[in-house]
Amino acid sequence: MEKTRWYKDRVFYQIWPRSFKDGNGDGMGDLWGVYEKLDYIKSLGCGGIWFSPLYPSPGADCGYDIADYMDIAPEFGGMEAFQKVLEGAHQRDMKVIMDLVVNHTSDEHEWFQKSRQRIAPYTDYYIWRPGKPGGKLPNNWDSLFEGKAWTWDEVRGEYYMHLFAIKQPDLNMDNPLVREEVKKILKFWLDMGVDGFREDVITFVSKAEGLPNDYLMPASKGIGLYNHGPHIHEYLSEFQRDVLSHYDCVTLAEAPMVNPKITLTYTTEGPEQEIDMMIQFETQCADCLFSDYMPMPFSLRKLKAAFSSWQNKLRGKSWNMLYMENHDHPRIISRYGSEQFWKESGKMLAACYLFQQGTPFVYQGQEIGMLNWRPESPEMYEDVQTIWQYEHKAVNKPAKKRLQRLWRASRDSARTPVQWDDGENAGFTTGKPWFYVNENYRQINVAQQEEDPDSILHFYRKAIQLRKSLPVVRYGDYQEHFKGSGKLYCYTRTGENQQLLVLCSFAGKPQKLRIPAGFIREKARLILCNYQSEDQRELRPYECRVYLLD
Ligand code: NOJ
Repeated sequence: MEKTRWYKDRVFYQIWPRSFKDGNGDGMGDLWGVYEKLDYIKSLGCGGIWFSPLYPSPGADCGYDIADYMDIAPEFGGMEAFQKVLEGAHQRDMKVIMDLVVNHTSDEHEWFQKSRQRIAPYTDYYIWRPGKPGGKLPNNWDSLFEGKAWTWDEVRGEYYMHLFAIKQPDLNMDNPLVREEVKKILKFWLDMGVDGFREDVITFVSKAEGLPNDYLMPASKGIGLYNHGPHIHEYLSEFQRDVLSHYDCVTLAEAPMVNPKITLTYTTEGPEQEIDMMIQFETQCADCLFSDYMPMPFSLRKLKAAFSSWQNKLRGKSWNMLYMENHDHPRIISRYGSEQFWKESGKMLAACYLFQQGTPFVYQGQEIGMLNWRPESPEMYEDVQTIWQYEHKAVNKPAKKRLQRLWRASRDSARTPVQWDDGENAGFTTGKPWFYVNENYRQINVAQQEEDPDSILHFYRKAIQLRKSLPVVRYGDYQEHFKGSGKLYCYTRTGENQQLLVLCSFAGKPQKLRIPAGFIREKARLILCNYQSEDQRELRPYECRVYLLD
């Protein structure tokens, strides 16, 4: 397997710009704020930043509805601030990757405005259909955010497809002109010096020929007919061949409902490779079925099976993207850890993934153990998906239950401003914040954790630093132990001259210490732990330990 690609040696930090840091006092996170915090990001040991969309956008889906792909939104500081950040990041040896959102645009994008008026060459830039006799929709597919996947457009007198919000019409990737536009966008940013792309739901861009009805799926109808569709490999190869392969850049593809076998058809290293890493969802489904809105009790066995499946099946062929949090899911301590054992479980959840093979991503606020936001009223939510869920699902349930459902599933749970200090608005802005600040900011904030050597923040720094210093983390073999345990996640990484043992307890009660046969603990060094002393018999609540044998 190729060892030289730069992304294999780095840890990335994800910035969701609106809530990261406001630099000009207007209440909205921006690139001046990012610029101020570049040293902070570097101090975590991160060697790269992934920016969620920074482009001009009406904000129907917080930037994932793009109105202009070749500019930076004025509220984020425009192109000037972006170039400053890019340069500042590069000076600190941090790479910068952009979000490429080309399954859909905003309905306010010029292409859509022209397409709905049938102005050439934009006429077929989107997926337009006349509808079926009797006023029926063109097919039975669902939107993942708002009802059905079709909305009638008065101007054109046809339906357009939107797999996400009504204000996010899907592009027609089968049109070669659209693919040329994508290539122009890629080239534009790469020529400016960005280092790669996170490609938003890219596996959705090729829809089944003829857009047939879906008779299989009970919900999210259509997903089997547009995910990994008929021309997906052709289109991704075209982007590779014509643009990406000419730059030393990285690509991450977001792919709902993907497994390692399908992933390998995109990411297997070699001349046919289309994508460097896949963003999978299996490790996000240990407490739900497919979506956060279909909750299940947390199952460590499910989580472990997902971790191990990706580690084992990609090994030697392709590279993993590792993450616990991003802007689309509630906070991980609130889900897989324990708010009661906040500090312990926050650290344990860091250790459980940071020593796997792949490139880890840390989502803003994760490094200080930010928790789910739980507003007192449903009116306080901003997210389009959350609002639709509230208005259309579980409507007969008692008010409290409906609200709790959102607490557990909403993306807004993890979108509150980063808590920088215990001052006003958690130090996020000197103005009026665009969104609510989690009330726990007096207890959970960066400034306080900087001062405390035992903080979650310092634990992340240490774990990342260790990861970078140990070749076995990057290239060693992965083996899971005690698979049947519903309380303990244990794996070893074995390299030529080093072996690492990672033990993580997911239990709120002490557990008997178990060491895999063959690992001689007495000869190993404990290099990381979330408790002060090493107990010889048991693992304490949410304890994690990392031992090194060399
Ligand atoms: C995935 C993104 O991560 C999410 O935030 C967005 O809403 C959808 N794709 C649609 O672009």
